Amino acid sequence: MNVSLRQLRVFETVARLSSYTRAAAELHLTQPAVSMQVRQLEDEVGLPLFEKLGKRIRLTEVGREIFHYSRSIGRSLQEMEEVVESLKGVSRGRLNIAVASTVNYFAPRLLAAFHQSYPGIGLQLDVTNRERLVQQLQENTVDMVLMGQPPSGVDVESEAFMDNPLVVIAPPEHPFARERRIPIRRLAEEIFVMREPGSGTRQAMERCFAEHGVTIRHGMRMTRNEAIKQAVRAGLGLSVVSAHTLELELETERLVIPDVIGFPLARQWHLVYRRGRRLSPAAQAFRQFVLGQARGLAGPLPWV
Ligand code: PGA
Repeated sequence: MNVSLRQLRVFETVARLSSYTRAAAELHLTQPAVSMQVRQLEDEVGLPLFEKLGKRIRLTEVGREIFHYSRSIGRSLQEMEEVVESLKGVSRGRLNIAVASTVNYFAPRLLAAFHQSYPGIGLQLDVTNRERLVQQLQENTVDMVLMGQPPSGVDVESEAFMDNPLVVIAPPEHPFARERRIPIRRLAEEIFVMREPGSGTRQAMERCFAEHGVTIRHGMRMTRNEAIKQAVRAGLGLSVVSAHTLELELETERLVIPDVIGFPLARQWHLVYRRGRRLSPAAQAFRQFVLGQARGLAGPLPWV
């Protein structure tokens, strides 16, 4: 049946008021317009919905069934409108946030503080790598993304909110730990534990080496910063990671940051969303919170 909401609404009004004239007045339509909507619905159903009783009309058996469903559809529509209205308020709502895996080192702190300020907003966090984030922006399936470099091939709004220095890491017993001002070309003698090709950290690292004409030797490939740090600690090679991932290892002196000329690579974290996406009040609150508070909440990076 190809029934429209408009037909159901007109029919429901006529049935409730038992009158075409009063229905037309309530709906601000002409009487012929009301009759036409009801006739079209009757054509779709294939049976008459009203019968005449002298000057009055009353529902047929099938009319009563359709009346029951049209009321329940009307109630659902009203409920939907109420939910949408409440979602427009900043005190309620739901936010889908996606972050680069490296952002996860400070994202939970950020979300916890946001949740304290806006306990009514439901948060969903997806932690993934850069490639997948770009895809989510392309498909417009996420409210906000926190990532390194904003993608160039997708039409997005982006705002930098915090520095993201990338550093070389080595085990404490590596000779680099005692040297100063190490030229970048010396990295060509080292093996590097690599992130997966979709990683933003990896792309920045490869760009830097290409710019300096340095060809590094690839060692093992790992999709997690934690695994990379363990591998470097175990002597499987050096690597390049965001300084945000290193809080614990530097405190416990399990890793060192060699003094390589040109490092740290100066990068920034960005808040990104699809251009033209209408930000809900909850999304706007999140944006302001990140721009204003992220730096303080992520903690200082004293070693850079
Ligand atoms: P990654 O992202 O975790 O994919 O390396 C970090 C970034 O985009 O810089």
